[in-house]
Amino acid sequence: MSETLSAKNETERAGSAAGPDHSHDHSSGSVTDLRRTGINPNFWYPIAVSGSVRKQKTFAATFAGERIVLYRGESGTVHALEDRCAHRQVPLSMGVVEGDTLRCCYHAWAYRGNGRISQIPYLPRGAARPPRGVRAYPVREAYGLVFVFPGDPQNATGAALPELPEFDSAKHKTMTFSRTVRCHYSFMHENLLDMNHQFLHRGVVGRIQPTLLGYDTGPDFVEARYLFTHAGGKKNRGAGLLAAQGVGGGTASPDVITIRTCYPYQTLQLVPKNADLPAFSLWVAYVPEDAEQRTNHVYGLLMIEKPPIPGAIHLAWPLIRRFTERVFAEDRTAVEAEQRAWDEQGEDWNSEVFPLILDVRHVLRTNGVPLRRESALSDAQPAPVTRGSA
Ligand code: FES
Ligand SMILES: [Fe+2]
Repeated sequence: MSETLSAKNETERAGSAAGPDHSHDHSSGSVTDLRRTGINPNFWYPIAVSGSVRKQKTFAATFAGERIVLYRGESGTVHALEDRCAHRQVPLSMGVVEGDTLRCCYHAWAYRGNGRISQIPYLPRGAARPPRGVRAYPVREAYGLVFVFPGDPQNATGAALPELPEFDSAKHKTMTFSRTVRCHYSFMHENLLDMNHQFLHRGVVGRIQPTLLGYDTGPDFVEARYLFTHAGGKKNRGAGLLAAQGVGGGTASPDVITIRTCYPYQTLQLVPKNADLPAFSLWVAYVPEDAEQRTNHVYGLLMIEKPPIPGAIHLAWPLIRRFTERVFAEDRTAVEAEQRAWDEQGEDWNSEVFPLILDVRHVLRTNGVPLRRESALSDAQPAPVTRGSA
């Protein structure tokens, strides 16, 4: 942990111990409230599951308040455009796909995949046309997801898509998750990294004792290593199936779970001793939907190594699915409650005590960007008056 980071964490701890920390309030200009930190758009973000973007169809997606229309042309290629017609702002997602162009439903202006207007049917040849069409986003398909690059398109080629070798491995099978959760993405990172919340899952998982073995922090990552031991209580069958791979302590398995926020993604892996690939591996992206980023869409890929018995994975699959859904539902209840509290309190009152969570908060804050609306407001208006200690 760097010295500045430790110093910052000390300040944050001191502040949080005293309740709402006005010195870190946005208006004072010192440290931005984490829940007012926008996600950095200069990364590849999934905004749809490939299967929902059907051939010759549109799909309305969103990234942090930006409406994006995806459409799959005749060639099979997915295109991503701003979801508004340059003519009268009607969403292009209401339009019709023709070949590899997209035609607005209203006056039938047609757009190419690069956002340029290819036709305005009722204009005579040679008539003046609007110089600009709409914005096109760099788009890639991988791992059964459609990724766009919402940041500066010049940075798109330099930015790597996540590498998930276990996705392509014949030994693994992938379960895909796509879900909206009504909270700021930072709550999601903190939830998965802070395994001290197993009490929340006591009904589904039984009594699990997580032990933090160690963790590392860098400018854009936090990596925590946990050992789980089962402390009695009932055991879920789905959990048991994953436990066969080592989760939940199993039969005194010494395997270690590694959870990593590597901005802006998060992973959770169990790599058995001497294995090349994880026995199971979860990759997640939390993609803000609204401009205030108080809602995120979770895209998750859970890649599980198949047991040696042929076909056994297919029998286990529905149980693993049900187990993960139940755990996820509990996490959702907690993080959405956290967001509601923040909405009521209007700022971050958290009294966080766990060092690695303080570190991940720092990583998310320093790698993030100002919310678009907030930066627009602060450009347009004088700084808001600082609250007194009412
Ligand atoms: S609004 Fe799209 S063509 Fe007129
Ligand atoms: Fe959880």
